[in-house]
Amino acid sequence: MNKITIESAPNGYRLINPGAVVIISVGDGSQDNLFSVTWNMPLRRDPGMLAILSGKRHYSYPFIERTGEFGVNIPGAEIVDAVLGCGRTTGSKVPDKFERFGLTRRKADTIKAPLVNEAVGNLECRVCQVVDMGASSLLIAQILAAHVAEDHFKDGGWCYDNGLELVHHLGGDKFAVSTREITPNKV
Ligand SMILES: Cc1cc2nc3c(=O)[nH]c(=O)nc-3n(C[C@H](O)[C@H](O)[C@H](O)COP(=O)(O)O)c2cc1C
Repeated sequence: MNKITIESAPNGYRLINPGAVVIISVGDGSQDNLFSVTWNMPLRRDPGMLAILSGKRHYSYPFIERTGEFGVNIPGAEIVDAVLGCGRTTGSKVPDKFERFGLTRRKADTIKAPLVNEAVGNLECRVCQVVDMGASSLLIAQILAAHVAEDHFKDGGWCYDNGLELVHHLGGDKFAVSTREITPNKV
């Protein structure tokens, strides 16, 4: 396999980057907001834990500081415009990103932030550790509740039989979708 060597900074991380991009929802019961996050990862299965990296200057950040909570909304390709929109606008200028990007709110079971109805999956999360990364914080959180489109989840995982297209951010305006399962030969 012929390979090119790329700059380890700033492009090295992109080789492991394209996990599914998510839309983070925040809210305190009277106001809410949305922003997109590519830098996210699972950390632990039981209790379920994950981490997201959030810029401290985001309009959303003080909501997370105040409430200690956020929603993780996993989009399908149908709402990729909203993914880009939520990540390219700030709540300080766009007071209702749900309305602006054609999304609707679903009440969460355990957190004040609303969830994105149109997303194929939603996680309700409570922050348990904050790691200072300078301009950003790594937010380590416990998953309190999880919801997923019933057509797209089977045997404990995503199921691509019914047209599921998870969205991966490649950088800039470029996105890709994952569309099918493959089965490796057993060892
Ligand atoms: C596709 C995409 C992915 C993004 N990923 C991240 C991320 O992982 N972490 C982050 O802090 N900001 C990320 N951003 C930037 C924020 O979503 C963006 O700054 C947003 O406008 C913040 O919104 P707010 O000011 O309303 O809170 C991303 C933006 C886009 C378009």
